Amino acid sequence: MKGAILVVDDEEVVLKSCERVLKPAGYEVSTSTSAQKALQILGENGGFDLVITDIKMPGMDGIEFMKKLREKNPDISVVLITGYPSQESIKEALALRVVDYLPKPFSPALLAETAEKAIEFRKKTRGPESEDFGPEKAEKLTEIINGLKGKPGSLLTVLQKAQELIGYLPPAVQRHIARGLNMPVSEIHGVVSFYPFFSMKPRGKHIIKICLGAACYVKQAEQILARLKGKLQIDLGEVTADRLFSLESVRCLGACGLAPVVVVDKNTHSSVNPDEALDILAQYQ
Ligand code: FES
Repeated sequence: MKGAILVVDDEEVVLKSCERVLKPAGYEVSTSTSAQKALQILGENGGFDLVITDIKMPGMDGIEFMKKLREKNPDISVVLITGYPSQESIKEALALRVVDYLPKPFSPALLAETAEKAIEFRKKTRGPESEDFGPEKAEKLTEIINGLKGKPGSLLTVLQKAQELIGYLPPAVQRHIARGLNMPVSEIHGVVSFYPFFSMKPRGKHIIKICLGAACYVKQAEQILARLKGKLQIDLGEVTADRLFSLESVRCLGACGLAPVVVVDKNTHSSVNPDEALDILAQYQ
């Protein structure tokens, strides 16, 4: 897979012709007929290398779309499909770091060439993908992938081992795995987002899981959570500045008789009293 591309255009015919050209050229292609839907796709899947978007679309135009896109994806490559753009929209597009233009109607050859250049440009400006998690870990991850490739259930095992190795599964790791296993990034992303065990954000050395299920809730789990948040100065789903602790919540650990329950790494702390909650932290350095 040469890269993952999202094409956004309100004309179905443009989307279809992009798929026809880019898929056989080795790209994973997703499409959207509106900017709103495209933002949703991008929110669910951080693994895209390139967005090709029309400038004129009903609802939200290409410029507005790029502004919103840049808030969350500052380094993604964007190619703009244009008819007759105004000077003003060209200026805005340049400010939003559009890497190239595709004048409508465009030939298949021009589309393929533009996509290739835009993805190359992204790689150059970001450096090799392995920089996101270090060349040594990238090499080890490749070894893991090669050792498991083709075996039943290999994806889950690769993801599990990748998380053990790197600590979490950011988009760069997912792309690396997708290329190694020759699978679409969207499939990898789907599995990573489905299982709560996998994390796309960095985690702390120690992972605190507080149960907010009914039995724990009625026994002051909320107060325990408030104490932990206050002490660690983080919210649920965040990591402390020193990367020592992550704070997560779960819905019932199946140990309701021991409520309220806090699990740190593999250790279960039962019948936790809010006043003693902070003492638990002292056990982990
Ligand atoms: S509700 Fe917390 S363990 Fe069941």
